[in-house]
Amino acid sequence: MRKPFICGNWKMNTRGECGVALAKAVAAGIPAGSEVEVGVCPPACYLGGVGAAVAGSAVGLGAQNMLAEADGAFTGEINPAMLNDLGCRYVILGHSERRQFFGETNEGVSKKTDAALAAGLVPIVCVGETLEQREGNQTEAVVAEQIAGSLAGISAEQLPTVVIAYEPVWAIGTGKVASPEQAEAVHAHIRKLLSDKFGSEAAEKVRIQYGGSVKPGNAAELLGQPNIDGALVGGASLKAEDFLGIIAAA
Ligand code: PGA
Repeated sequence: MRKPFICGNWKMNTRGECGVALAKAVAAGIPAGSEVEVGVCPPACYLGGVGAAVAGSAVGLGAQNMLAEADGAFTGEINPAMLNDLGCRYVILGHSERRQFFGETNEGVSKKTDAALAAGLVPIVCVGETLEQREGNQTEAVVAEQIAGSLAGISAEQLPTVVIAYEPVWAIGTGKVASPEQAEAVHAHIRKLLSDKFGSEAAEKVRIQYGGSVKPGNAAELLGQPNIDGALVGGASLKAEDFLGIIAAA
């Protein structure tokens, strides 16, 4: 009932031409009639070029971040209206790298989630625990706090538009993937939290992606879990063949 959603997070990688070539190769490789929703999130400076490359294809465009403000004096930032102007459908919010290196908080992510929804963008809200938190048996509590804080302002009607990405920090870019059982346990926990807060009808509609070292070889098992509805893919989204392999496994 939930449409699988595979999204590539290119992070701070690619250059204009190779990003365009990558996006075109992905668009060309998606089988006709595919039931999988696909997105790519290039660096902000390449949104225009990649957007033009995927226009009219099955690949949606997404940004990796934004500021929740209207136009104004915010040097170096981009806002939801600009993402709309560039043809974005998605925006990744609260990625662990933004939380870790740029001081993003649940409160800030909540503000961005509200602004994204108001602008008609699909927010991909990222949550996940560090290795230390997992080893300290804090995973469920950390994720609960992130979910409650990052979705503080939304309604049950808005919830189904939101995509959640569960990305254990220890599995991101490390090659250490969560086992399907480990991931499914947290995904089920997240859906229960959403159900408690927004009601089961809305919670059942939310796509919860897994992220962290997803590859063609481990994607099918992860995506076969009942509460894993897609993947947010970093490293493996930089090679069309690998990314298409993950799409094929969904
Ligand atoms: P990875 O990154 O696939 O390279 O582990 C995932 C992410 O950070 O979204």
